[in-house]
Amino acid sequence: MPDLTNETNQTNEIDPPETLSGYGAKRRTALSCMAWAGAGMLWTLSGGVPGSKLLSGTAQAAEVDRHAFSFVQISDSHIGFSKDPNLDPASTLKEAVDKIRASNEKPAFMIHTGDISHLSKPGEFDTAAQIVGSAGLDVHYVPGEHDVLIDDGNSYFERFSKPADKKWYSFDQGGVHFIGLTNVLNMRGGGLGFLGDEQLAWLKQDLTRRSSSTPLVVFAHIPLWSLYPQWGWGTDDSAQALSLMKRFGSVTVLNGHVHQVAQKVEGDISFYSAMSTAFPQPAPGTAAGPGPMKVPADTLRTLLGVRSVNYVPGQMELAIVDTRLSV
Ligand SMILES: [Fe+2]
Repeated sequence: MPDLTNETNQTNEIDPPETLSGYGAKRRTALSCMAWAGAGMLWTLSGGVPGSKLLSGTAQAAEVDRHAFSFVQISDSHIGFSKDPNLDPASTLKEAVDKIRASNEKPAFMIHTGDISHLSKPGEFDTAAQIVGSAGLDVHYVPGEHDVLIDDGNSYFERFSKPADKKWYSFDQGGVHFIGLTNVLNMRGGGLGFLGDEQLAWLKQDLTRRSSSTPLVVFAHIPLWSLYPQWGWGTDDSAQALSLMKRFGSVTVLNGHVHQVAQKVEGDISFYSAMSTAFPQPAPGTAAGPGPMKVPADTLRTLLGVRSVNYVPGQMELAIVDTRLSV
């Protein structure tokens, strides 16, 4: 058995962002996590201090399996967009949902990290909700800036928030605490995301009641890390939110907006940007600016995809598996 004990995210170094070229590295991370489970290595958290032990018997492994679960993330479906490189994002969203439906194990639920629509039109929301609903899963949404273009976002919140008057929320699943944040209202200069004092105060209150050993999964549309602020790929006041999470031993932050896989590890916090189901965007700094990237028709689906996130109790890191619509 390979020695995997050093393959954790327990580093205080700030790694540079990995973009599409880092996809292989990301897959290795996921495979490593799965190797831990398969090899019977259990990561433990005791009083917030990480450790590890070998599972001695099948009973313990079965206990871990019983509480393991997965969920899926889709993002940036941009229903209503109709230009190069994708004239019909409804069809690629449907392909993404079909891929989720075809998976061997039913996910516990789905999250959609925003830009459901392209122009916040009721018909776009209708089409998206119908296709996403065909997965037969409970769906937790957060808005993208394309979803709040009209009516201060109220048409989005009335339709997709649960309850409708809440612009941010949390819920628990299998011992993991999930937090959905909105960072596309009152956006800052250059397109940076913004959380605002009211949301930060709510977040502080929400986290106060949690033990440091509770794994956190936070999701928002715009990255909560400085992926590429020159293009607005960051959130102006995210440092305040992240400081509230520093005492937690396992924090996973998921976002959309940038339409490509990227990841970063900062202390105990792991950040992951997801692919779109509609169109790719250029890697940071490789074009004049962000926006739909024109690619050949036979390449498009290799740059679109869905994400599965697997949680195994006791493991420090959730296993992230990004699957493209075609290879
Ligand atoms: Fe988007």
